[in-house]
Amino acid sequence: MTPLPSPTALIDRFGRKVDYLRISITDRCDFRCVYCMAEDMTFLPRSQILTLEEIETLAEAFVELGVKKIRVTGGEPLVRKGALNLLTNIGRIEGLKELVITTNGSQLVNMASQLKDSGVKRINISLDTLDADKFKAITRTGDLHQVLSGIQAVKAAGFEHTKINAVILKDRNHLEVNDLVQYAVDNEIDISFIEEMPLGIVGQHDRSEAYYSSALIQADLSQKFSLVPSVEKTGGPSNYFKVSGTQTRVGFISPHSDNFCSTCNRVRLTVEGRLLLCLGNEHSVDLKEVLRAYPGDKDKLKQAIIDAMLIKPEKHEFNIHEQPVILRYMNMTGG
Ligand code: GTP
Ligand code: 5AD
Ligand code: SF4
Repeated sequence: MTPLPSPTALIDRFGRKVDYLRISITDRCDFRCVYCMAEDMTFLPRSQILTLEEIETLAEAFVELGVKKIRVTGGEPLVRKGALNLLTNIGRIEGLKELVITTNGSQLVNMASQLKDSGVKRINISLDTLDADKFKAITRTGDLHQVLSGIQAVKAAGFEHTKINAVILKDRNHLEVNDLVQYAVDNEIDISFIEEMPLGIVGQHDRSEAYYSSALIQADLSQKFSLVPSVEKTGGPSNYFKVSGTQTRVGFISPHSDNFCSTCNRVRLTVEGRLLLCLGNEHSVDLKEVLRAYPGDKDKLKQAIIDAMLIKPEKHEFNIHEQPVILRYMNMTGG
């Protein structure tokens, strides 16, 4: 007889098991990356966002429902006061296999070793260019050297499988893909190239003109590196290759050219407590409302999460040639 699925497992209508939760712990950020935000952003007032205790309670409920990996994101997660404590507490939840973060790197010089102590297992750092002027132009407010020093601090703290995320835009940084991979090789870290997604109206560039596909990047890289396809997976959407003769993996996150939704294993919690079932759709459930309506009632919360699986969409439908349908900016979900 086929065993019944575990009553605690989160399974959607398409049979996909959700065991990866991404939690955005703040919408605020010290950068204003051109593909993520408009120059002039209004952030949420404190009354609208989850408290650190509420985030912890939600994380516990998800782990009790079978979530094995939690990625803490932002905005920039490390600018939220109390972030380290929160990470330590989430890292202690019994049953959680992997606590990881995605950061813009700006705070790592001071925080890398504390992050190691807090139980964070891996760090993904956004880095789109190695040219200080271009870095300033893309992030609007960021300082390249601060981030590069942060990456060194992460290495010194003993983190393994650190990964750089680079969003590649035509005529902004597409000529740098080889340099970025060389940087990853020299530092024995991994790198993922991301096709820009049309979330929110960013204003500064035309996303259709800036589109630079993973296939083009791969062709550029093949002039300098030998990329060997790898079956390795990290639970995220990257399709990995090994750079021959090195420790480095190069991943491609290709929401446009190679849809990965059929293997989607993740949901997102926004800082407002909205459980977002897909990055490219607005289907969501307000878990903050459940939390605040039934304080201390974990079962109510868990039932709301289980029920939410029924509205997880099959896939995202991005069209970079049209105005974005999703007006939510990326900083609400941290990617
Ligand atoms: P690993 O654990 O290292 O595999 O991390 P990850 O790739 O899952 O996380 P990361 O924060 O590095 O994500 C990189 C980017 O992948 C995100 O910022 C998004 O741009 C994209 N991405 C992740 N999940 C999804 C998804 O479900 N749908 C879409 N369209 N893009 C996603
Ligand atoms: N499209 C693709 N990736 C994006 N990121 C932010 N905005 C976008 C976008 N519109 C990336 C950041 C970071 C990750 C969390 O999401 O560069 O690496
Ligand atoms: Fe901040 Fe990350 Fe958005 Fe850049 S991509 S503005 S670092 S949240």
